[in-house]
Amino acid sequence: MLSKFRGVAQRAVKIQSQRALSTKQVIDREAQYGAHNYHPLPVALSKGEGVCVWDVEGKRYFDFLSGYSANNFGHCHPKIIATLRDQAGVLHHTSRAFYSDVFGEYAQFITKLFGYDKVLPMNTGVEADDTSCKVARKWGYYKKKIPKNEAKIIFANDNFWGRSLAAVSASTDPTSFEGYGPFMPGFSCVPYNDLQALEAALQDPNVCAFMVEPIQGEAGVVVPSEGYLRGVRELCTKYNVLWIADEIQTGLGRSGKRLAVDYENVKPDILVLGKALGGGVYPVSACLANDDIMLVIEPGTHGSTFGGNPLGSRVAIKALEVLEEDKLAENAFKMGQILREGLETIKSSKAVTAVRGRGLLNAIVMNRDFAQAWDVCLKLKENGLLAKHTHDDVIRFSPPLVINEEQTREAVDIIIKTLNSISA
Ligand SMILES: Cc1ncc(COP(=O)(O)O)c(C=O)c1O
Repeated sequence: MLSKFRGVAQRAVKIQSQRALSTKQVIDREAQYGAHNYHPLPVALSKGEGVCVWDVEGKRYFDFLSGYSANNFGHCHPKIIATLRDQAGVLHHTSRAFYSDVFGEYAQFITKLFGYDKVLPMNTGVEADDTSCKVARKWGYYKKKIPKNEAKIIFANDNFWGRSLAAVSASTDPTSFEGYGPFMPGFSCVPYNDLQALEAALQDPNVCAFMVEPIQGEAGVVVPSEGYLRGVRELCTKYNVLWIADEIQTGLGRSGKRLAVDYENVKPDILVLGKALGGGVYPVSACLANDDIMLVIEPGTHGSTFGGNPLGSRVAIKALEVLEEDKLAENAFKMGQILREGLETIKSSKAVTAVRGRGLLNAIVMNRDFAQAWDVCLKLKENGLLAKHTHDDVIRFSPPLVINEEQTREAVDIIIKTLNSISA
């Protein structure tokens, strides 16, 4: 009897998932069964190709979020999808209890590309940032001789590196940390883009690392002053503190250079990558460092079931190859200029108070008296462009890096038309 009932229920679930649902049905089902940890725009997507996505009713949109910058290569990039399929049919997961014939190839490829001795593979961004903090603490004890359990890590105000307990312990945003205490000890923050405050903090001999985004993404695409990154490099060297650059959002061409730190020709001690490293199809993240730092991690003292698996490693090699071969950083640089030039023309309207960004990581700041960023995102959606606000007044524009000039100009027209309709 019970098994008969189960059979009927299974068929019902199957039938519902096979039938094309309306946007409302998709939203209602998700609201009923999915935890409410996001507040998505009311659009239900069912297809993607290049810089565009389509909803379940067949309406096309420009994707100006790119899956929070994971889709640098656009949707369903043929080379990335072919690689994913091929490797999935041969060997997908082994764990690093054994060697695979792919991880070493990936490790060699990524370390040579970025100029580090070693890579430590993880999956999501927050894991890689957390790993960097662990490496830095261990380095602090083994190499800098910080007394046991006294190591400190400095972050910048308004940092964002994910949602784990360690990440929210470093956060200055109550939306991230409220209700999740007690917090990780040994973490503190200094103002972003403030070298004087950083120098004061680094004088403490127990500081092992300073972790910072070269452009603060979730904070609202905050670009530091020219010279800040060079100053961070110099201060970290002066006080024997590791500089951890969180390039999870800014890296891999997003800022118009391969890395955002390349704008100032500086090299962090630990480079953290994620998001687009998995080509938008698989979670792959990485910490890169030289041997004097990375070899403080010994067998058994850190790991990840999926980190470095053959499928993720193969996809990451392909993603990096596409980035280089298709010159996506250069394209992001050029398209970013066209995008920002277009956005600048609406600064004279009362609706927008600032335009900022680098490459294809951009944002407009809305005049709060005039319009809420959420309402503007709804209007943009109606007009065929998907973007998401960060905080109440900032809208980020970060399309896939494969966007061409015609598409960029068409998207700019949509944004201008939308903002003008609000200003009118
Ligand atoms: C700079 C930065 N670091 C880390 C993360 C966390 O990445 P994940 O969501 O993959 O854990 C994010 C996510 O937006 C990010 O922007």
